[in-house]
Amino acid sequence: MGDVIASARPLDLRLPSPLEELRDDRLSRAGLRLFLKRDDLINPDIPGNKWRKLKYNLESARKQGHQVLLTFGGAYSNHIRATAAAGYYFDFATVGVIRGEEHLPLNPPLGDAVRHGMRLAYLDRAAYREKMSPEVIAMLHRRFGEFYLLPEGGSNADAVRGCSEIPGEIDRRFDLACCACGTGGTLAGLAHGLVPGQRALGFSVLKGGEFLSREVAGFQREAYGAVSGNWSIECGFHFGGFARRNSVLDQFIADFERRHALSLDWVYVAKMLYGIFVLAQQGSFPAGTTIVAVVTG
Ligand SMILES: Cc1ncc(COP(=O)(O)O)c(C=O)c1O
Repeated sequence: MGDVIASARPLDLRLPSPLEELRDDRLSRAGLRLFLKRDDLINPDIPGNKWRKLKYNLESARKQGHQVLLTFGGAYSNHIRATAAAGYYFDFATVGVIRGEEHLPLNPPLGDAVRHGMRLAYLDRAAYREKMSPEVIAMLHRRFGEFYLLPEGGSNADAVRGCSEIPGEIDRRFDLACCACGTGGTLAGLAHGLVPGQRALGFSVLKGGEFLSREVAGFQREAYGAVSGNWSIECGFHFGGFARRNSVLDQFIADFERRHALSLDWVYVAKMLYGIFVLAQQGSFPAGTTIVAVVTG
């Protein structure tokens, strides 16, 4: 099944994830070819960069003898949902520490998490901001005992190593790899996995995403001890900030679905693809460029 540790329950991982060419005259007019790396199809419960980020963390947790995974997220966090599923398949108990108050009935991602056996705990916004402080971590240990801590969004050195495996699965020549950026962990790994001459371009889904360059550099330093010079981040396609949208983005998504029969995740993937199309139309990519866009969810 292509993963590093054995799952306790049958788990179908579609790896390598499919690579599909997107044929679109707006791109061919600019002399570009675009391929979608369909990481969203890896597994319905642990899709996209969630699997990439969890893979080596699951291995580390097991090697260190942990039986519990604990992580943080907002009420709509895909990372919380995926961690719960990973716990179910790989036989770890899971705890999800959620920002804010409990709202019942649970929304779909938290409902899925609980169905996969996750215990939920809630931190008010002030405590949540301090979630990685020794005081809050000690409080969580008092409440939940020993655990393997996954950071919010799942980005750490193990996650970066998992994401660095994406380019190695691509069996055709390409020049540029693109992904959406929230914490920057995916871009850090993606860029590291490229060969000389290739570049990576991240699209910030956060307003004021300029700080992400420091984060990506930090993740690369943590994982590899050095920063690669082959990546950059576009900060102009956030549509007002995290989980914000407007009619331009909505129209892009509806039009994309009509043309390509693919419904895009609007929080991350649609913002990246919108950015790629705008940059293509502005002539920002040299004619002849082959782009791979990672569909991370
Ligand atoms: C679907 C999707 N795409 C992209 C990202 C951004 O990844 P990162 O936080 O590693 O920058 C996330 C967040 O993890 C995500 O859920």
